[in-house]
Amino acid sequence: IKNIGVFTSGGDSPGMNAAIRAVVRTGLYYDLNVTGILRGYDGMISGEFKPMERKSVANIIQRGGTVLKTARSDEFRTKEGRVKAYEQIKKNGIDAIVAIGGDGTFTGANIFHEEFNIPVIGLPGTIDNDLMGTDFTIGYDTAINTVIDAVDKIRDTAESHDRLFIVEVMGRDSGLIALRSGIGSGAEAILIPETKTDVSALIHRLGISRKDKSSKIIIVAEGDDAGGAFEIAKVVKDKFPGIDTRVSILGHIQRGGPPSCMDRVLASRLGVAAVESLMEGRTCEMIGIVNQKIHFTPFSSAIKHNKDVNSELLKIVDILSL
Ligand code: F6P
Repeated sequence: IKNIGVFTSGGDSPGMNAAIRAVVRTGLYYDLNVTGILRGYDGMISGEFKPMERKSVANIIQRGGTVLKTARSDEFRTKEGRVKAYEQIKKNGIDAIVAIGGDGTFTGANIFHEEFNIPVIGLPGTIDNDLMGTDFTIGYDTAINTVIDAVDKIRDTAESHDRLFIVEVMGRDSGLIALRSGIGSGAEAILIPETKTDVSALIHRLGISRKDKSSKIIIVAEGDDAGGAFEIAKVVKDKFPGIDTRVSILGHIQRGGPPSCMDRVLASRLGVAAVESLMEGRTCEMIGIVNQKIHFTPFSSAIKHNKDVNSELLKIVDILSL
């Protein structure tokens, strides 16, 4: 291979820039050309390409977001869109691709490879941590630390006012942000889409919880089956009119900010491995790290939403919140 195209796609995540930097610098280290593709698959279709130099990625390792921009592309879901994208890829002399994103990104990459036989390697870039074949995705560590920081602040005011807060965190299909940040913030309860939420059990739990606790925090993932934070708050208020209950939805602050050191190192390791694995002829695989070692997973397996929710972590919440 002579020219690697790199792009970010789907929801951005802190550490994507560190990954782009690693791909570009590794490509240059091995005397390859690296081309940045802007705005994910949309930019591939419309031909937004730019040659990447060593200094194109200077001073970005510490920045959140993605310098290559990102998008969720509808056009790439169509055959016509993918044909246009491939024409641009050929025109720009790109012979291998590094795709940084989540399940939508890898679904697209898989189809693109099947149709046009271009080698593609994926790096897991999403705050949700919902990809199989890696212990952690790029951006997850930063996002859960952002949640912890926010909940610590909420805890101060909750404590002063003797209030219960229902805090909604991101995770449309995944409760992994809620799970870890809930443990780390000492939450009373954590509600996640992977386990059926029993609202009456939650009410029972609140009923028997210590009356001398002046603040209580419930963390709910946005994709939880019992509804969002406002729905839960309504039930709690109906049952316990005496508890002063408030809702806080953290939203997109979870996607921004400087990446943690863990995310920067993860992104750097994966970026180097991406280029080296393309040079070795690998394709259609996501690279992750499992038990501290580089690990390859076919796209089709990486995107299955069946990542185990560690039951030990769920048990910890029950024990420690009493
Ligand atoms: O996939 C990452 C994520 O942040 C999810 O947790 C969330 O549900 C979704 O993206 C929000 O997407 P958007 O910014 O497009 O509304």
